[in-house]
Amino acid sequence: MVAKVHFKNLEDISYREAGIFENTRYEKIHNIVFDESNRASEIVAREIAGFMRDKQARNEKCILGLATGSSPIRVYEELVRLHKNERLSFKNVVTFNLDEYYPMEKENEQSYHYFMHDHLFNHVDILPENIHIPRGDLKPDEILDFCIDYEKKIKAYGGLDFQLLGIGRTGHIGFNEPGSHNSSRTRLITLDYLTRTDAAPSFLGLEKVPKRAITMGIGTVKEAKRIVLLAWGENKASVVKETIEGTISSQVPATYLQGHKNTTFILDQGAASMLTQYHTPWKVGPCEWTEDLIRRATVWLCDLTSKSILKLTDKDYNDNGMESLLAQEGSAYDLNIKMFNVLQHTITGWPAGKPNADDSNRPERATPEKKRIIIFSPHPDDDVISMGGTFDRLVDQGHDVHVAFQTSGNIAVSNHDALKFAEVGLELNPDNAVFKKIVEQVKAKPEEEFNTPELLKVKGFIRQKESLGATRYVGINDTNVHFLNLPFYETGTVKKNALGVADVNIVKSLITSIKPHQIYAAGDLADPHGTHKVALDSILQAIEDIKSEPFMNDCWVWLYRGAWHEWGIHEIDMAVPMSPDQVLRKRKAIFFHQSQKDGVMFQGDDSREFWVRAEERNKDTALKYRRLGLADYEAMEAFKRYHF
Ligand code: F6R
Repeated sequence: MVAKVHFKNLEDISYREAGIFENTRYEKIHNIVFDESNRASEIVAREIAGFMRDKQARNEKCILGLATGSSPIRVYEELVRLHKNERLSFKNVVTFNLDEYYPMEKENEQSYHYFMHDHLFNHVDILPENIHIPRGDLKPDEILDFCIDYEKKIKAYGGLDFQLLGIGRTGHIGFNEPGSHNSSRTRLITLDYLTRTDAAPSFLGLEKVPKRAITMGIGTVKEAKRIVLLAWGENKASVVKETIEGTISSQVPATYLQGHKNTTFILDQGAASMLTQYHTPWKVGPCEWTEDLIRRATVWLCDLTSKSILKLTDKDYNDNGMESLLAQEGSAYDLNIKMFNVLQHTITGWPAGKPNADDSNRPERATPEKKRIIIFSPHPDDDVISMGGTFDRLVDQGHDVHVAFQTSGNIAVSNHDALKFAEVGLELNPDNAVFKKIVEQVKAKPEEEFNTPELLKVKGFIRQKESLGATRYVGINDTNVHFLNLPFYETGTVKKNALGVADVNIVKSLITSIKPHQIYAAGDLADPHGTHKVALDSILQAIEDIKSEPFMNDCWVWLYRGAWHEWGIHEIDMAVPMSPDQVLRKRKAIFFHQSQKDGVMFQGDDSREFWVRAEERNKDTALKYRRLGLADYEAMEAFKRYHF
């Protein structure tokens, strides 16, 4: 077996050359895992550009099958860059898009027609007559003929040279939902509920997502000469595992790609994280037993055997592919005690260090006794949702705690909430023009969620005041609360701008003015619109720029999760316990964010309210520690240290 490698710097080799590495015995589709998706996307764009140029040199047309969705956006950005800076021409390119919602007007911003023009076609020199996208504006009796014609056109061009794909969490490619046949062709299909839920945020509500779509079939896709599928993020990890390692089944239509000879899956670490070779590499073959891997394996083994750490036996390790670990560590007895202590040392009720205590086995330093701390919160509620208990302890323990709300979070307030505040305002001041306008606007379209500059303003203030309610309740001064209103977020729509220098500078100047000993940031990157990732990037870039400043030597960065998912036990570097009373205090702090309760605009696919999610996750973490044989707490918040 050839070891699988992570590719960090593929400056000089294309990933197809890198693809000589064999897959493990569990894997049935060639895949390459990148450290992060941006670099991977650039390399995919380079492969497409290579195809285009080869064809150009031979005076031939290049037939591309294209996908929409969040996954290929960076690829299109890079193709546009290559067009603008490296004279990549699209004159010989003919495109066929995979799918379109039905019914759907071309002009609608949610249409795939709009998406493709916005992200690619409007910025390159492709000939309009060479663009083909299934039409969502057909009459029902025109659909069949259109689909047959779509297939004929692809054939007439000699088939697709290259097909770019994303993958849905149902296992769909294109919109071929579970049940689709291996030989299916372009047709009208019904979208799965999960697919519609995933699309709901951009449509501002599930009920507005079309129920059907026109999609190329599996048979159509599989006739492409080359297929590249992109998958990013932990959200996709389980479907990626099923697709690459599972048996071919119409229930996971992407598994049909196992039968295609020239397919590569391009994954980031999140999407690859459940593949056996990364998740449980000891089952695949010899592995290097780093401290992190030992921790992961021990926690996994406890889970598998339903035993606490100190009860694991040599046989448990040997039966589950960990003989080499035992050989390295001596015996189960020694290893168990070592790992028990490792996990025990992650637990602390002193998240910013315990004064006058020996800190050699504690997650945080004892000195300075009183620390300056910034809690960065991407939206104006992540602070209390994800680390409300720890926040409370930090304040109680006398540290100088600042909270920085990175974005205004304005689009997540519903129009009826804005109306309520505007009506109260009007009662007090009947001449106020802004309130008048808001009341008129919302009453004119009571069923719709839309935004205007006035609405966004009032919505932003609602979130600010809710945040202040919570931070006052926890006990910090308003002067320690910073509303950064990062510009990348301020588009008034779900689609945000890319992170810019202005965003990073705002974050940088706050860090430089406070000179914190601790920074807390959201490492919870599964929010539906990707704001947490951009928010984290703004902090990491700021840190990169100022890391040589002397005060940064004393600055530790801790990443929290909670609103969207939680750290695995093996990943936790600091676990902060909560008593039943502290759990209730945290719940109250979250309740101050009333606009995010009782029917939230952007719920994601988890139907629980934020306080319920947070509480259940915190209780679950405590339960998992208890099952490992550690102390029994009501709940725990978890943090991972980020080393820069
Ligand atoms: C889009 C398409 C879909 C998406 C899939 C993943 O044209 O056909 O199969 O590729 O739903 O969507 P994202 O990339 O948004 O996760």
